[in-house]
Amino acid sequence: MDKKILESYKKAGKINSQVREEVLKMVRPGMKILDLAEFIEKRIEEIGGKPAFPVNIGINEVTAHYTPSASDKTEIKKGDLVKIDVGVHVDGYVADHAFTYCSEKNGMIEVAEKALEAGISVIKPGVRVTEISKAINGVVEKAGLGVVINLTGHGLEQYVIHGPPKIPNVGNDSGEILDEGMVVAIEPFVLESNGIVKDSEPVEIFSFMQTRPVRLPEARKILDMAGNEYNGLPFCKRWMVKKGFSPFKTSFALKQLETVDAMKGYPVLKESRGKPVAQAEHTVIVGNPSVVTTR
Ligand code: CO
Repeated sequence: MDKKILESYKKAGKINSQVREEVLKMVRPGMKILDLAEFIEKRIEEIGGKPAFPVNIGINEVTAHYTPSASDKTEIKKGDLVKIDVGVHVDGYVADHAFTYCSEKNGMIEVAEKALEAGISVIKPGVRVTEISKAINGVVEKAGLGVVINLTGHGLEQYVIHGPPKIPNVGNDSGEILDEGMVVAIEPFVLESNGIVKDSEPVEIFSFMQTRPVRLPEARKILDMAGNEYNGLPFCKRWMVKKGFSPFKTSFALKQLETVDAMKGYPVLKESRGKPVAQAEHTVIVGNPSVVTTR
């Protein structure tokens, strides 16, 4: 891997780890997740990175793609499983990192962390994806728990968050092999028994797909920002409101952009039976002994 690219990954990882430590010192029941998301995104910029996607804060069965809206009133309650998934990028090189906070002791968090470590421990150039999955699932099964089977780890590339290969958390016959220098995020989602997530409301997060002629001036501006400022990385309605667009016009423009396939929306993903989920995630450079986001 090019030295400059490696430095960017390391810097992004360091920022992400530092923000995690700051969050763990302040997060507590009663806190608004809007304040938490805003704090995290502000700190990322202050220490020299950029958010690679809006901070995802998923409580209990809300598993992924939930970022607070500009008027979100949700507060963290005692015993909630709060998944905090943060992306930091430096020049487009992304450190993707997640952890779960709970005010009470919850065994699923520990299992998610252990499964993550087990997955990371087998990563080396030439490893088959299926070996990583097996290592992750072995820990989860041994604990008598399950995983979300339709959420996977993934490859990372410059300005690409969900690149190939997919790294499932359940046994599979993937023939794919990880080569030296590939960057992957490993992320087990752990719950009481194997489950799936389903698309749900709301849709707050979007990303650029292609340029399309649109009439609405707000839609044109948002499309331009999505392509040029965010370089195709996901953004959210809250960020648009912060830039001075009204919530109504933002929603209207994004709906129009989605209709013409200029923009893709990411619906909130909820566990289909309403079961609470824990998550842990690190970003790893294959063949590099250190994990990008440090523990
Ligand atoms: Co990820």
